[in-house]
Amino acid sequence: MTEKTYRVIQWATGVVGKAALKHFIENPVFDLVGVLVTNPGKVGKDAGELAGLPPTTGVLATDDVEAIIALDADCVHYAPLVADVDTICRLLASGKNVASVGGPFSPQHYPAHFEKIEAACRAGGVSYHACGVHPGFSGDILPLTLTRLMNRIDHIQVYEFIDKVQNPMIYTEMMGFGRDPEALLAKPSRSPEAPYAFAQSMAMVAEGLGKTIEKVTTRLEVAKATKDIPYTLGEGREGGGVIRQGTVGGQHYEWTAWCEGKPLITYHFYWSMGPDIEPQWDIDSRYQVVIEGDPALEVRLMARPGPDGVRPFLGLPWTGLLGATALPAVCEAKPGFVTHIDLGVVQPHGLVRG
Ligand SMILES: NC(=O)c1ccc[n+]([C@@H]2O[C@H](COP(=O)([O-])OP(=O)(O)OC[C@H]3O[C@@H](n4cnc5c(N)ncnc54)[C@H](OP(=O)(O)O)[C@@H]3O)[C@@H](O)[C@H]2O)c1
Repeated sequence: MTEKTYRVIQWATGVVGKAALKHFIENPVFDLVGVLVTNPGKVGKDAGELAGLPPTTGVLATDDVEAIIALDADCVHYAPLVADVDTICRLLASGKNVASVGGPFSPQHYPAHFEKIEAACRAGGVSYHACGVHPGFSGDILPLTLTRLMNRIDHIQVYEFIDKVQNPMIYTEMMGFGRDPEALLAKPSRSPEAPYAFAQSMAMVAEGLGKTIEKVTTRLEVAKATKDIPYTLGEGREGGGVIRQGTVGGQHYEWTAWCEGKPLITYHFYWSMGPDIEPQWDIDSRYQVVIEGDPALEVRLMARPGPDGVRPFLGLPWTGLLGATALPAVCEAKPGFVTHIDLGVVQPHGLVRG
């Protein structure tokens, strides 16, 4: 039996986009037809080269948005630095299904965006879906799936641990590492919008349990660097710096969704600049879901250790793969904004291959 194939465009080739691009080149279910880049150094390069594969795809990266929108394609994996709803709507209205890793993730919190996306889906006769490792998997579809193992649920807690020295990312300075701890506590660096992006995942879990969230409360705890900590920005990026002793070396954001007067879902984000912080908390990079109730359970989601014995943090490549593997289901879904709940069990074809 020949498998149905999907003509796909990769929009942006950062860490997330590159993982999806590699998947589109290697998975025979996809036929890569376009790659949009903003970096002038990438324009004209073969998609294979951008994905770390041989430069033999024949698909050359372009920065021409109009040419990409005019392409004949079934779907777009949309992974730019910042998601732009108007661009998403142009892609949808041009008849391309879209999976976005930057949201919007569910209809509840941004009704204006939802209405625009719904209208564009209707115009193009296509679907829109958003997912990623968190939001979009570890805090919603994963715990929701695990709730099937429960008799009674008291509290769902989802943890993200990232050691940002082992797993360098661009967000280090932006996130306020290296700032004065009191100043950061008074004015946190993480956008006040952030809990609401994650609240979309919380709302999805609550919806799946037949409940509604009343409010989301936030708490920030800071750990101090106990010595100077040098850091880089990661593969292929120039720059970096030093987190000075006594400044912010760890941040624990805690967001709690309340239901019927009690905490129902709590997300913990433990982001650390290595082990030299006080208080010393767990820095093994992973996602972890704990469901308190009857019977209580715990699941840890982490990479296998590499040859050096260290487990890499795969949150960014996983984000690209989650969007990529959902695309066939998004293409087959009824037109409109489709959440995990609408998609049901996604069947990621083309993964088992020689
Ligand atoms: N839902 C989740 O769980 C989750 C998790 C992680 C990240 N994300 C989202 O995924 C997206 C990509 O993350 P990433 O780690 O891949 O980031 P990244 O490595 O910094 O790459 C972002 C890419 O966006 C393009 N870009 C750069 N500047 C831009 C600009 N001013 N306007 C538009 N595009 C620009 C560039 O593409 P080219 O290099 O191709 O020119 C860049 O490589 C972000 O929106 C992030 O919020 C979601």
